[in-house]
Amino acid sequence: KKVAVFASGSGSNFEAIAEAVGRGDLKAEIELLVCDKPKAKAIERAAGFNIPAFVFQPKDYDSKVAYEKEILGELKRREVDFIVLAGYMRLIGETLLSAYEGRIVNIHPSLLPAFPGKDAIGQAFDAGVKVTGVTIHFVDEGMDTGPIIDQEAVAIDREDTREQLQKKIQAVEHSLYPKTLAKLLT
Ligand code: GRF
Repeated sequence: KKVAVFASGSGSNFEAIAEAVGRGDLKAEIELLVCDKPKAKAIERAAGFNIPAFVFQPKDYDSKVAYEKEILGELKRREVDFIVLAGYMRLIGETLLSAYEGRIVNIHPSLLPAFPGKDAIGQAFDAGVKVTGVTIHFVDEGMDTGPIIDQEAVAIDREDTREQLQKKIQAVEHSLYPKTLAKLLT
């Protein structure tokens, strides 16, 4: 399967997925990184794997429809058949949703439906819950909604700091996302 990964930030999940492809654990080709932040570290990581990047700034377009049409053109040109969101900090609009119905997945750092939206790790930490985790789900028009595919729990220990919790969650993300994609894409 030909995949595009969308990221806005560090791209550590992008890298974990690219490494899984490199090891042969995930039978897919990453055709493109799509990134809405010209300074994102994800872009450097893509270059390191020789994966092309389509970088854009929403403010250069009149509307979400306009930039998503352009993204769609890039995806079509490269015959991408699956979209993987990995820290892409925007809602997917109708243009991409209708073209890739049932073929867009996202990862979120909580056990959804708990703690949707921004800073889910901080939200869980501040709420004082003892268990949080990672969710992989299909994308619909909502924010972190859509059918759940996989979840893994992460315990919050009494002595954990916010930073330690973030590290634990990231470690789970980096192993779970490639594994779940391997199941979905075969
Ligand atoms: C991850 O925690 C992911 O769950 C969330 O955004 C973060 C992206 O991190 N949606 P990275 O850019 O992959 O390092």
